[in-house]
Amino acid sequence: MSDTDLLSPSLEGETPHQEISKTWWNRPDLSYDESGRLKLGACDLDALARRFGTPTYVIRAPRVVEKLKQIHAALDAAGVTHRIYYAIKANRTVQLLTYLAGQGLCGADVCSPEEMRHAISCGFPEDQISFTGTSLSATDIEQISRFSDLSFNPDSLNALKKIGKLKPGSEVGIRINPDIGIGYAGNDMLQYSGNAPTKFGIYLDRIAEAKEIAKTYGLKIVRIHFHAGCGYLDRELSQLSRVLDVSRKFLDQLPDVREVNIGGGLGVPHNANDKSLDLDKWASVIANAFEGRNLTIAIEPGDFLVKDSGILLTSVTYQETRKSVEYLGLDAGFNLAMEPAFYSLPCEPVCAVMKPGDWTNYTLVGNVNEALDKWAENHPMSPVDEGDIVALLNAGGYASSMRSSHCMRGDVREVLLLE
Ligand SMILES: Cc1ncc(COP(=O)(O)O)c(C=O)c1O
Repeated sequence: MSDTDLLSPSLEGETPHQEISKTWWNRPDLSYDESGRLKLGACDLDALARRFGTPTYVIRAPRVVEKLKQIHAALDAAGVTHRIYYAIKANRTVQLLTYLAGQGLCGADVCSPEEMRHAISCGFPEDQISFTGTSLSATDIEQISRFSDLSFNPDSLNALKKIGKLKPGSEVGIRINPDIGIGYAGNDMLQYSGNAPTKFGIYLDRIAEAKEIAKTYGLKIVRIHFHAGCGYLDRELSQLSRVLDVSRKFLDQLPDVREVNIGGGLGVPHNANDKSLDLDKWASVIANAFEGRNLTIAIEPGDFLVKDSGILLTSVTYQETRKSVEYLGLDAGFNLAMEPAFYSLPCEPVCAVMKPGDWTNYTLVGNVNEALDKWAENHPMSPVDEGDIVALLNAGGYASSMRSSHCMRGDVREVLLLE
């Protein structure tokens, strides 16, 4: 069945909003009401967009909390002693971070001194912060060393040596490179290791040197960390299992390790072919990999928590046919949600109000002067006119945090929904 079959209202006796309730993204807190108005939780998205203006990011906090609870429940049920650090690089909106810090369900994963200070200033206690950065300068490491209670995972021999000089005798983690990657639908661009060498972490063949550095400075390596890639779903779980298998080779050489941080990477569905990650299966892969080792497992999900909790609201700027292609322009460009253009991740634009009438397949484009500024091609939409509101789904992760002001189109509001 094609996307068009799924989306076009065609079944006899069914109203369009009844029919769209069968689409892949429809869920209890994201669906059309009886009059065809799209709701995220209690929020009428068209009404919000008209009051705040567009473009506007909206994120629903209770969904993020619900997903945190789902992860805790799955790991508890599998008997995995664990902790969660939310990867704030996915969405560092002050409103969201302050809210999450108050919930006490997770710490924060940060990757730069500025992210570290941002997380602390939003209310995350220092001892609930995990720092794993890359290409760290001497200045970066000096700044990190001022915060002794956070968990620091140097990702190179060089960084390990620098922290050893600054804080001899301390406990540290190390980021390892498992030499094997994982990513949404095998997408190479989302994999952090495997095939060619990557910059992320210390490879197995250099662990002896890491131990030597630790010995020189009296450091105790109590943690290993890795993040092999982003966006994995059930079909990639066997690959996750292989990554975890490799990590045990590192553990065998590092007897003081008490915690394994397996990074983030848990994905969400992007189109009708994707199924939600089965957290129970995921948790059992982890439980099996580390059974009997008496370890705490840390995870640092970003996308899984925030991506499908957020939406980018845009307005239609024009509609025009070019060489038989129906173009729909939006007042938001790829600079506000870069993943579709950069990583070829599918984007799902939907009308905030579903009007009756025939559906049309559109190529949706943004307002930035770049050829790659294209949201979706040949995408079925219910009737839509200039000035209508279009919601871009899955914009809660790596959209606002990666945005740029390219073409001076970076002006945008962010709204946190509390119900
Ligand atoms: C070290 C590290 N941890 C966690 C994450 C979060 O990944 P995701 O949002 O895919 O869960 C990333 C993403 O780049 C990362 O680099």
